[in-house]
Amino acid sequence: MKSIYLVGFMGCGKTSVGKIIAKALNCHFIDLDEEIVSHTGKSIPTIFEEKGENGFRIIESEVLKKVSSDSSIISTGGGIVTCPENIVFMKQNGIIFYLESTIETLYKRIHQDSNRPNAVNRSLVELKNLFISRKSFYEKADFTISVTEKSPKDVSVEIINCLNSLR
Ligand code: S3P
Repeated sequence: MKSIYLVGFMGCGKTSVGKIIAKALNCHFIDLDEEIVSHTGKSIPTIFEEKGENGFRIIESEVLKKVSSDSSIISTGGGIVTCPENIVFMKQNGIIFYLESTIETLYKRIHQDSNRPNAVNRSLVELKNLFISRKSFYEKADFTISVTEKSPKDVSVEIINCLNSLR
């Protein structure tokens, strides 16, 4: 099986959904942010502090290439799509699902999360602008799944059904 990449803005549920799909399909689950932390020995906020967002993006792209393997479910960080090379790589190695939600819903989940340097203490307007600036990149995914008012389980079932229809 090809790998499955889950993309989408912070707080859309990529990790929860990824874990459910991996369990259901008996596949390996990879959380890219966790891999970055274990490869660098540093937390995400520390990497942002020491190397800036650009430095983080370089590490993120390297780790994406290092950890990608067949038949894995890979939950990515919300900004991975901003590097076009990453989209090309993910498409070559697997299938990309965009978990789409509204910024109003996501804002409530992320604006106080100190582990998310690109979200913490940002206003709704600031996060909306970031969201809009990334929209067209997310939409390059192979499939878009709306997650609004759906549980991670519901979203996982939709993704699995979609995968079955491709066989
Ligand atoms: C980021 C999203 C985070 C993490 C980093 C940057 C972003 O991942 O990669 O804090 O710029 O959107 P999640 O989408 O899992 O929060």
